[in-house]
Amino acid sequence: MYLTPEEERALTGEEGRARQIAMELLCTLGRVFGAKRLIPVTSAQVSGVSYKNMGDAGLEFIEEIARDAKVSVSTTLNPAGMDLERWMEMGIDPEFASAQQRLVAAYARMGIEPTCTCTPYLAGNTPGFGEHVAWSESSAIAYCNSVLGARTNREGGPSALAAAIIGKTPDYGLHRDEHRRATHVVEVNVPMSRLNYALLGLLIGKRLKSGVPYFKTISPSRDDLKTLGAALASAGSVALFHVEDVTPEAPSAGVEDNAEVIHVDAGDLEAVKEQFSSAVQPELVALGCPHCSPDELREIASMLKGRHAREGAVLWVCTSRRAKEEASDAVSTIERFGKVLCDTCMVVSPIEKIFSATATNSGKAALYLSRPDFCSQQVILDPLEELLKRVMT
Ligand code: F3S
Repeated sequence: MYLTPEEERALTGEEGRARQIAMELLCTLGRVFGAKRLIPVTSAQVSGVSYKNMGDAGLEFIEEIARDAKVSVSTTLNPAGMDLERWMEMGIDPEFASAQQRLVAAYARMGIEPTCTCTPYLAGNTPGFGEHVAWSESSAIAYCNSVLGARTNREGGPSALAAAIIGKTPDYGLHRDEHRRATHVVEVNVPMSRLNYALLGLLIGKRLKSGVPYFKTISPSRDDLKTLGAALASAGSVALFHVEDVTPEAPSAGVEDNAEVIHVDAGDLEAVKEQFSSAVQPELVALGCPHCSPDELREIASMLKGRHAREGAVLWVCTSRRAKEEASDAVSTIERFGKVLCDTCMVVSPIEKIFSATATNSGKAALYLSRPDFCSQQVILDPLEELLKRVMT
């Protein structure tokens, strides 16, 4: 891979150990994937923030890197394991909280904005069409590539951090036109709701793995696209999708000549839903995966307005600080029924230590919550209106 003289200096360690480690990682990735050069990125989004996922080894590694690393482009963080201000109200253990605060503080010392959200594009980190970035939250990657038309590979936490430090990423994969063509055409013959977008994402993500679907006959809103992308990216490793007449690259990206055509009907989506709908009584109703947009907060508030909180019901609504501020009236309404939490979510918090059965409307959350090695929850996957009936009278 060709390196500029400046990149060579970083690689030989002349610019410090942190930049050297970052360059080594980027060069290794570039070699493995056949990149010919590094290209500049305009932003980065770094995962590996929840202490639940990182543990002590991860915390020590990030604190070590933070001794002399500084990011050189605008960089934001993925959700942490708790609301950094209201962790006590969530029932988080003080030892966990202290380790989590140290982890976020280490990232902040590198110059990373501690906006812990999986919807950075709704919180000020919004790349334009065609911009190259290095993001590592899978749902945000799908949104970034598909809805914004910006370009990122599915970075891991370390490679996104390396790109943030150097300000560059290897030029391969979804940074290049030839990998942005659709590999499958998906014709959807079902009336669509928000929940159906989650189910569609789970169905197609699992089937395609890392392909690029081109959806026809659907007209999703921006929040529907957020839901669809998150489910596609978690059930498979889809990082880019196109929707005819909706997403910006659909007219130009093209479809592979031998692209398989997949037909989806109501029975296909019902079968996906049935995997989760257990008859258990949820201890928690969890909304906001990916983090709620201001519009979603307003929608929830409008459905709760004029009703009373059901005794004993627990509701978490996860969002970014920016969205919480933007929809503050809606937040006041929702808080009469439960907590509007920032910086975290039901999946990356240590939920398994607090609850054992959770109801959600998110395909991605349903998938991860049910994993015995991760959240160990019995999961109910239902539409928003059904979930809210559980918390109001
Ligand atoms: Fe975001 Fe957590 Fe879902 S990070 S996409 S709310 S699993």
